[in-house]
Amino acid sequence: MNNWSLIDTNFEESYQLKETLYSTANGYLGVRGSFEEGVSNNIPSVRGIYINGFYESEEIVYGEKLHGFPDRSQSILNVIDTQEIIIKINGEKFSLFSGKVLFYKRILNAKTGIVTRTIEWESPKKEIVKLVFKRLASFEQLELFLINCSIEAVNFEGEIEVLSIINGDVSNIVSSDDPRVGTANAKALSVIEMTVDNNASFIEAKTKHSNLKVVGGISHQFPSNFTETIQKDKDKFTHIFKGNIKQGASINFTKFAVYTDTNRHPNELKENQSIIRSVIKNSFNYYVDLQKKYLDDFWEFADVKIEGDNEMQQGLRFNLFHLVQSVGKDRWSNISAKGLSGEGYEGHYFWDTEIYIFPFFLFTNPKFAKNLLNYRFNILDFARKRARQMGHNIGALYPWRTIAGDECSPFFPAGTAQYHINVDIAYSIIQYYKVTDDLDFMANKGLEMLIEIARLMFHIGHFRDSDNKFCIDDVTGPDEYTCIVNNNYYTNVLTKNLFTEISEIYNNVKSKHENILNSVLEKLQFQNSELTNFSKAGKAMFLPFDEKRNLHPQDDSFFNKKVWDFENTPKENYPLLLNYHPLTLYRHQVCKQADTILGHFLMENESSLEAIKNDYNYYEKITTHDSSLSTCIFSIMANRIGEYDKAYNYFMNTARLDIDNLHHNTKDGIHTACMGGSWMSIVFGFAGMRVVNGKLNFHPHLPKNWTSLSFKINFKNSILKCNLSADNFEVSLLTGNSIEILVDDNPMMIK
Ligand code: BGC
Repeated sequence: MNNWSLIDTNFEESYQLKETLYSTANGYLGVRGSFEEGVSNNIPSVRGIYINGFYESEEIVYGEKLHGFPDRSQSILNVIDTQEIIIKINGEKFSLFSGKVLFYKRILNAKTGIVTRTIEWESPKKEIVKLVFKRLASFEQLELFLINCSIEAVNFEGEIEVLSIINGDVSNIVSSDDPRVGTANAKALSVIEMTVDNNASFIEAKTKHSNLKVVGGISHQFPSNFTETIQKDKDKFTHIFKGNIKQGASINFTKFAVYTDTNRHPNELKENQSIIRSVIKNSFNYYVDLQKKYLDDFWEFADVKIEGDNEMQQGLRFNLFHLVQSVGKDRWSNISAKGLSGEGYEGHYFWDTEIYIFPFFLFTNPKFAKNLLNYRFNILDFARKRARQMGHNIGALYPWRTIAGDECSPFFPAGTAQYHINVDIAYSIIQYYKVTDDLDFMANKGLEMLIEIARLMFHIGHFRDSDNKFCIDDVTGPDEYTCIVNNNYYTNVLTKNLFTEISEIYNNVKSKHENILNSVLEKLQFQNSELTNFSKAGKAMFLPFDEKRNLHPQDDSFFNKKVWDFENTPKENYPLLLNYHPLTLYRHQVCKQADTILGHFLMENESSLEAIKNDYNYYEKITTHDSSLSTCIFSIMANRIGEYDKAYNYFMNTARLDIDNLHHNTKDGIHTACMGGSWMSIVFGFAGMRVVNGKLNFHPHLPKNWTSLSFKINFKNSILKCNLSADNFEVSLLTGNSIEILVDDNPMMIK
């Protein structure tokens, strides 16, 4: 097994799953790994191309609509299809489902960023052709998706016909009965214009409600002895290339597909045409080289090397590659729960970004992390508006799920009620500052978000009469099997973090950027007394703890509930959410995912290690890990409490969750949070890294079957290389200033 690649040798098996796994994306554009020529009708397929942040919005139809329920949905759209290429040899149409397949192999290479499909096919008339398709979504030219196809006539000569299609007749999938899949309107895009310009054809389509337009354009490089004609049908253009081939010879085609949408390209058609004109001047190999260079730079900092465990190594690289493929690189986009690989969760951005994915980028390629925060800043006005709709006269409430900024979650108990998204965002802003020292960002954007979030959290809480403790009622924590509770430990502890940290950040901004600060304060009409309130609430924050049992209840009422009857729950009833009414779940002690344990991981200093251990042992027994956001946290915390075998087992379920389709739904898209979680399990788990009092502190422990583990960390612009073997942990400075770190709490200077 080559641990930089994913290899497929069976085209008939799990086609839809592989459409996800072999998807090609660059953060702007994502193309599912469908076969250019299509598949036979009995094979389930979701052929899709998505643009990050490009969506349709529909009215949400409720049986009973109460005040403050979101009005409209937002769903990522399947845009104009440019994947289709039909090849005919002497009139016979190539298909893997006719004739005889002599050889088939598809490889996704995480180092080059290219998916290659090699086929040797014997036609029904016994003519053998070798085909190699290569595809890439360019990291350098985000609008560009390329398919290169070489055709070799192994044992025949004659006519080759290539039909390359651009098709505006596209639709989204309509939901099955799985709430995690989209509920989009099947056909949301309508074609408004079709033009041909210098052998390039363009289709422009628009959405009905979100007022967005998209243009897809295609143009080709092809052998000079071939002719090209363009045929127009309803909603589609077919470029037909015809020519002759000699036996043993091969020919080469490249399809250049360019996408422009009105978010980023106000003159969508003109800009598309101009990009096509410029990219068509370059060869396919030119983009291959650029792709490799971009990824070399990415891997230089991002790679994690595991010696002695090929399977985990492969899983991890696959995950990190999909993260860089999925992460939004402009102000319109973030990283969705499924990346750009499928329609699951309608392309929404969740807290997954901040708590599970952000750390990987922050410590390896901080520019991506910053862009994720910029996105949150850009939707701050939506969060303010949402706060007002929810009855809060001050502050901002970030949407539980969204694309463009509006709350889109119709099911509020496990949606809007998850106010923790606010403090998750605050947590990552604070982490960003601690890791990068980027005070400019804090002055211009970070502090404003922190203030608005803190105001909202202060507004929803109250000092309880009995003991003056600050309490937060009626929220839902991360665990979606326990909803609308008072004093969720996780929400409270992260709110405490914000209330505690905000004054120092405020003072730092004040000392270097007083003018900017003043204008932010004026804009927000911020009173100094608010800072005092935050700090008072932080100190008085109620963190539920059961002294007798030496355990943290997940919330005030958690321990009053009956424990779920795990023994009598058949295996096929998992995930429970597909088999039980939510209320049945809410009435029991049963957790979908890490909640209190996640709170401990993020805010470790708030509890003794002993209490953390007790909590771990308690919650482990009642957690189903029905969410893919769970096992990574249990792996990290198992390491923390010295349960090393458990740490490894949970890591196995994290690192290969998509490759091995462990949740049986990767066909709907990858699980980006879990992918980020696999990196966290390495760095925060096996290497035990935390940021404590402005320094990195490591508690390393190598799994027993590994020979070594190494990775790099960018901390305050110093790049550190960390190597862990069975009996040694070594940290060296690659660039930047010397820094002091701690290893098992002992200081160590890295020069
Ligand atoms: C989890 C949420 C998560 C969402 C999107 C749900 O199953 O419970 O925590 O944000 O998936 O990944």
